[in-house]
Amino acid sequence: MVEAILATDSFDGLGFKGGLPWEHIPEDMAWFRQNTIGKTMVMGSATFASIGGKLPGRRCVVLTSKINPKADACYGSVEEVLKNEAGPLIVIGGAKTYRAFKDFISRIYFTRIAGIYHADIRFSIEEFGEDWTEVSGQSFSKGSFHIYER
Ligand SMILES: NC(=O)c1ccc[n+]([C@@H]2O[C@H](COP(=O)([O-])OP(=O)(O)OC[C@H]3O[C@@H](n4cnc5c(N)ncnc54)[C@H](OP(=O)(O)O)[C@@H]3O)[C@@H](O)[C@H]2O)c1
Repeated sequence: MVEAILATDSFDGLGFKGGLPWEHIPEDMAWFRQNTIGKTMVMGSATFASIGGKLPGRRCVVLTSKINPKADACYGSVEEVLKNEAGPLIVIGGAKTYRAFKDFISRIYFTRIAGIYHADIRFSIEEFGEDWTEVSGQSFSKGSFHIYER
């Protein structure tokens, strides 16, 4: 199974100037850690640059046309990732990488951050397509956490 995890604001803001549109949100960072730990995280090279390096307890693979020796592995296509990585795989962004994997994703961990922030990258979860069922939802101080499956 391939999963995705993302957070967007009320106007689908996903990124700003190579980072997140909002300041550090501890509850969302804890949600991210809880749902990625022990998995293989797949990300685009822009997101890998924004993270700055590998995160403990998670294999880190990067979709890119280049080689980045800081990653556990680099691949030039979605097909290469799926062929070579045993998983469990979780796509952690950004927008280009969610779009590239959208047909393979069957569970989404989604944080809706309440409010509208300055953003230069937007992504709507509707881009993942139809036929999703919400299997879990809970509010927190800055928004809400949701899990969707298909
Ligand atoms: N809010 C969130 O949950 C969240 C999550 C993740 C990221 N973000 C934010 O989103 C922004 C980055 O998103 P982004 O869409 O600009 O970039 P991205 O998806 O992180 O990275 C784009 C790069 O990945 C590679 N790539 C993507 N699709 C590919 C494909 N099909 N085949 C081969 N290579 C492919 C290319 O790398 P090369 O150019 O190296 O070839 C491309 O330039 C940042 O602001 C980041 O902070 C937000």
